[in-house]
Amino acid sequence: MAEVHLNSIIKSYDGQTNVVDGIDLEIADGEFVVLVGPSGCGKSTTLRMIAGLEEITSGTITIGGRVVNDVAPKDRDIAMVFQSYALYPHMTVFKNMAFALKLRKTPAAEIDQRVRAAAEKLGISQLLGRKPKALSGGQRQRVALGRAIVRDPACFLFDEPLSNLDAKLRAETRAELKQLHQQLATTSVYVTHDQEEAMTLGDRVVVMSGGLIQQAGTPLEVYSHPANRFVAGFIGMPSMNFIEGRVEAAANGHSFEGGGVKLDLHGPLAEAAGSAAGRDLVLGLRPEHLSLQDADAPAGRTIDLKVQVVEPLGATMDVYGQLPSGQRILVRTEAQPLEIGEAARFTVATEKAHLFETGEYGVNLRDQPAAALA
Ligand SMILES: Nc1ncnc2c1ncn2[C@@H]1O[C@H](COP(=O)(O)OP(=O)(O)OP(=O)(O)O)[C@@H](O)[C@H]1O
Ligand SMILES: [Mg+2]
Repeated sequence: MAEVHLNSIIKSYDGQTNVVDGIDLEIADGEFVVLVGPSGCGKSTTLRMIAGLEEITSGTITIGGRVVNDVAPKDRDIAMVFQSYALYPHMTVFKNMAFALKLRKTPAAEIDQRVRAAAEKLGISQLLGRKPKALSGGQRQRVALGRAIVRDPACFLFDEPLSNLDAKLRAETRAELKQLHQQLATTSVYVTHDQEEAMTLGDRVVVMSGGLIQQAGTPLEVYSHPANRFVAGFIGMPSMNFIEGRVEAAANGHSFEGGGVKLDLHGPLAEAAGSAAGRDLVLGLRPEHLSLQDADAPAGRTIDLKVQVVEPLGATMDVYGQLPSGQRILVRTEAQPLEIGEAARFTVATEKAHLFETGEYGVNLRDQPAAALA
């Protein structure tokens, strides 16, 4: 087992643009870290540099305290699992799993014991004699995992290993992977573009965009205290609503005006608003922080939406509604009857809202925990 440190990592493929533009990240021994971000943000490139499959343009990577910049992939004591399972088609499951150990000249009895133990953990013991083409996608992915486990590496590297599986199998395999990590406690770096996968798997989630780390924190930190508008919009499903407007000083504090609505600001937001009065800002409201109005919600905490679409989800429903400005926002609230085309009044939990500077990466003005700024 080992900790993995990335220091000022830069990668340029063409010598002109940096697709990874200066990444610092310390991954603790036994930690499960997920790199998440949109397509092209540099996740796989970062992972491949840790694996040694891609040269580092500048910076250093250490695994277990050893600088590995010039160490060949096979000597880094890592095991990588890809989206494409990359199994050898002519070999049985057993041989696929045993392959790396055989290359290392591990004694046959030990290979046998390790392959069987890994197969047991993954529930594929009955498949050891089969060839990959006689396996389902989920089974193949388990074999690919098994092949990584038998090597007992210092670190697992995963690049979207579940994305070829259908939704149900993906969710099941995700849970198994988490359980496996709880058993093995091997340092793991996992890449995905799926924020839900990141939130459910990671001890820590590293949100990337444009070759930079936008924020690294626990799933709850990045969800509740997003460092900027990008993280706020990327983490959480359905996505946060953003309303452009301004903070104005009011008789009893501050209010936000934008999208044709006016909201009194409360709690942490009111403090942030003090220094921001008179500037163009963006209010961030999660869909679940609006609810159909309770009778005694004071004016200044409600907004009226013209209901356009209602999607029943069972206990809750998603409501797409128009602000007076015409902007469409989404509300997730308790299921109740609603008339399409009518105006409905919603209560806003303004104490949970966020205020951002304008722009794609506009800074969150609300209180930031120290970890979120790291
Ligand atoms: N071998 C390569 N040569 C040149 N450019 C590359 C190479 N590999 C990746 N890139 C570019 O580097 C950038 C980052 O790619 P990377 O594969 O790291 O993204 P990613 O975050 O893994 O995206 P995805 O979610 O689509 O897998 C992209 O703009 C990509 O086109
Ligand atoms: Mg990728």
